[in-house]
Amino acid sequence: ALDPAVPGSHRVQDRANPVASLEPASALHEFQNEPDTDNSIASNRAWGLRILERSATSTLGSDTIAAARIDDLDTLLTTVGATVHASDTWVALPVETRARILHDAGDVLGAFRGRLIEVMASETGKTIAEGDVEVSEAVDFAHYYASRSLDLSSVAEATFTPSRLIVVTPPWNFPVAIPAGSVLAALASGSAVIIKPAPQARRSAAVMVEALWEAGVPRDVLKLVDIEEGDLGRELVSHPAVDRVILTGGYETAELFRSWRPDLPLLAETSGKNAIIVTPSGDLDLAVADVVKSAFGHAGQKCSAASLVILVGSVAKSERFRRQLVDSVRTLRVGIPQNPLSQMGPIIEPAHGKLLRALTSLEEGQSWLVKPVELSDDSVADGRLWSPGVREGVAPGSEFHRTEYFGPVLGIMTADTLEEAIELQNASAYGLTAGIHSLDPLEVATWLDSVEAGNVYINRGITGAVVQRQPFGGWKRSSVGAGTKAGGPNYLMTLGSWSAVPAEP
Ligand code: SER
Repeated sequence: ALDPAVPGSHRVQDRANPVASLEPASALHEFQNEPDTDNSIASNRAWGLRILERSATSTLGSDTIAAARIDDLDTLLTTVGATVHASDTWVALPVETRARILHDAGDVLGAFRGRLIEVMASETGKTIAEGDVEVSEAVDFAHYYASRSLDLSSVAEATFTPSRLIVVTPPWNFPVAIPAGSVLAALASGSAVIIKPAPQARRSAAVMVEALWEAGVPRDVLKLVDIEEGDLGRELVSHPAVDRVILTGGYETAELFRSWRPDLPLLAETSGKNAIIVTPSGDLDLAVADVVKSAFGHAGQKCSAASLVILVGSVAKSERFRRQLVDSVRTLRVGIPQNPLSQMGPIIEPAHGKLLRALTSLEEGQSWLVKPVELSDDSVADGRLWSPGVREGVAPGSEFHRTEYFGPVLGIMTADTLEEAIELQNASAYGLTAGIHSLDPLEVATWLDSVEAGNVYINRGITGAVVQRQPFGGWKRSSVGAGTKAGGPNYLMTLGSWSAVPAEP
């Protein structure tokens, strides 16, 4: 079963015994994607059940995040100063040594898989399946950036100077993978890091940071600070010693940061309004499955999620796609993550504002194919548990066509031709992910020529980008300042500055 030619097969996949899984150590230079948990193994299923049981009362990460709390400006400024200072020791390490520590961090994140799934389920309601893939992605970021960090010193014509201090402000929807990816990239580029977790996902970030410290990342080089987002947030982002900020969040937050500090070097991956086109040549069974997974995975709270499906020609006119979609959506099991059967968990923040509107009201000409309903469970705050919704009749230019919602609601649009469908797909101010289901190579080529999104997927769901295989990043308003993609070959190079090596006399 252990065929080294098969990616990931060098690892023993007994999750209950992660130390044994680290043998033999994975190699620094040969990146391989980390496999998700194999639930055909009985001991892994038992392991999963124990994690979910613990998550009901979990306090993992509490002490670390409590110790990271800062409420006054003086302490914050002292912490910034000390972290900049500590960057000198980090950058002075041989590149190989740094890479080895970050590679080990990947192994430790893998060994922390159970703890990370537990804290995400406990703090944000993430289901075990969604938490599991997120841990794999975090492990991938560590191994991938560790190996890519070796490239930075091997460019002959130019010299790379790392930033001294990078601030990371991650989102709450991927409480482990996105903070880990941003922090690991910054460390791999040779910079010290201050991470300020999202308030909804503090403990998850804390456990991720604990893993990195355990792997040997110095505590003064990677600082966790828990501050209020108002005045102290502004002081942190505007601090002249901060060379760069890696933000993943709303477009408005990127604008806010820029208003605080107009010259801020900002790498921001921001909002999305993503659609999948289904043409008559597409495999409709596959399309239904991919649309449902992309729209309702993590209750629609991925920036990459499908918010619209655009049906073309005869698919739009017939009932078949809709009937299958309705059946599939109605059978999704919604519930708390502690129930191992839950396929869709609660939303992280109780629905309010535009999301509440999208779950409860229709615009003119729209009707519910599947009406979302608020469910209740004693262990979840009111307004957080919703069954998935599908609305028919989303008109071009309507609010639903243009707005990002971050919740379990999908809209159907129709088009007579592929060209019309592409126009509807591109009409958004954002351009993060986009998909097409078509088995016609000419259609796919036409689409590829004109689709406006950073990550485009053919006959596949549009969430769950895999490190190295599908580097992730947006166009248009889905990206501010970020020219390269996370989890791709050039990302680290954008985190410092380059100067030409003077020609030999
Ligand atoms: N990388 C995630 C995905 O592809 C989104 O951040 O779904």
